[in-house]
Amino acid sequence: MRLNSKDTELRERARQVIPGGMYGHESVAMLPADFPQYFSRAEGAYLWDYDGNRYIDYMCAYGPNLLGYRHATIEAAAQAQAQHGDTMTGPSEAMVVLAENFVSMIDHADWAMFCKNGSDATSMAMVTARAYKDRRKILVAKGTYHGASPWNSPGLKGITAEDRAHIIYFDYDDLDSAREAFRKADGDVAGVFATPFRHEVFADQFLPSKEYAVGLRALCDEADALLIIDEIRTGFRLSRDCSWSIHGVKPDLSAWGKVLGNGYPISALLGAEKARTAASSIYVTGSFWFSAVPMAAAVATLHEIRTTDYLERTVAAAEALRAGIASQAEACGIAIRQTGPAQMPLILFEDDADMRKGSFWTGTAARLGVYLHPYHNMFLSAAVTPEDVEQTLAVTNEAFTLLKKSLPTLPPQTNQILAQRLQMRRSPS
Ligand SMILES: Cc1ncc(COP(=O)(O)O)c(C=O)c1O
Repeated sequence: MRLNSKDTELRERARQVIPGGMYGHESVAMLPADFPQYFSRAEGAYLWDYDGNRYIDYMCAYGPNLLGYRHATIEAAAQAQAQHGDTMTGPSEAMVVLAENFVSMIDHADWAMFCKNGSDATSMAMVTARAYKDRRKILVAKGTYHGASPWNSPGLKGITAEDRAHIIYFDYDDLDSAREAFRKADGDVAGVFATPFRHEVFADQFLPSKEYAVGLRALCDEADALLIIDEIRTGFRLSRDCSWSIHGVKPDLSAWGKVLGNGYPISALLGAEKARTAASSIYVTGSFWFSAVPMAAAVATLHEIRTTDYLERTVAAAEALRAGIASQAEACGIAIRQTGPAQMPLILFEDDADMRKGSFWTGTAARLGVYLHPYHNMFLSAAVTPEDVEQTLAVTNEAFTLLKKSLPTLPPQTNQILAQRLQMRRSPS
């Protein structure tokens, strides 16, 4: 029996001292009741809640866990640096080593700047692009996520139209629409944000066409605007270089975060030579941006990325999981859609407008010790073993079986916050 009594108590205490009880993407307000909000520890591919339940984790802290929680090599590097100092009056040698190593790994990059979160890196990219030719307009594909700053937050409360006065939106994977946005900007385009593949919540994931990637590059070249690839979610999960290297497309700037320190707080903006002067001219900083421990962790993470088969192992586990789930769904006669790269999977159910099936299935899996997500893309870490996949499949099989039995009487979505959100998506006012 999973009582979640300690988790419930923490949520009640949080309601007194944390606005809304929790905020942002890690709030479980739209997840089934079986998902814990708080975790007491993490190791490898596992999480433990405060009631002692273990979960095989397929969210990886919403991305940062690439190699496994508390990975021995990364922990050793972080702890070795911590013996000498972390947040000091200036950075340590690790900053220079990290910049050298990162730049040597990413084809388009000639320089690197470091910060803390993905939102810092995308905002720094925006400012650098504007500084490049002293222009104002930033082109962003509708519905893509680039962080939670006023210029790009998906929430609109507290945000003014002026915060986005110079953002022009176009349709993802639609070159004509991007062309039209350039035309509208009338020579004032500073930069264009590109997302390697479409990973919106609640919607099937997809890769854009090669023509789109190549076409955005050409439009930026014609206008002498900077192409910015947001690799914060995708970085080192698809490739050991920028994601659009598969299309031969090199950006001028790329924003990285999440996996860079395998969980230690660090993000980065990388740039090509032509953007160096612009990047040197802007004022960007933060009290913790130069801390040495996350930089040492990032040096060690990049070393693992360069020298191990972490990606191939992750993809193999992910493909086995995907194939197993597909055959279980088919055997049960339940139609699902598994989209996106296998190592960043999204699983949605057919005929599930209010997500009652997805919530039931993921809620059951959580109760049985597997942390999946009903509507956000998931992430696999390299710590997931074939045995973990086997255990996961035993749980998903049981969840499918219970779902099949319950289908005739499955009530409409019981999570009111999620039901409202889905209703708003279906009929935006
Ligand atoms: C594509 C993308 N860009 C930017 C961000 C913002 O990163 P952070 O939450 O670290 O500020 C995220 C976070 O999920 C992201 O997925």
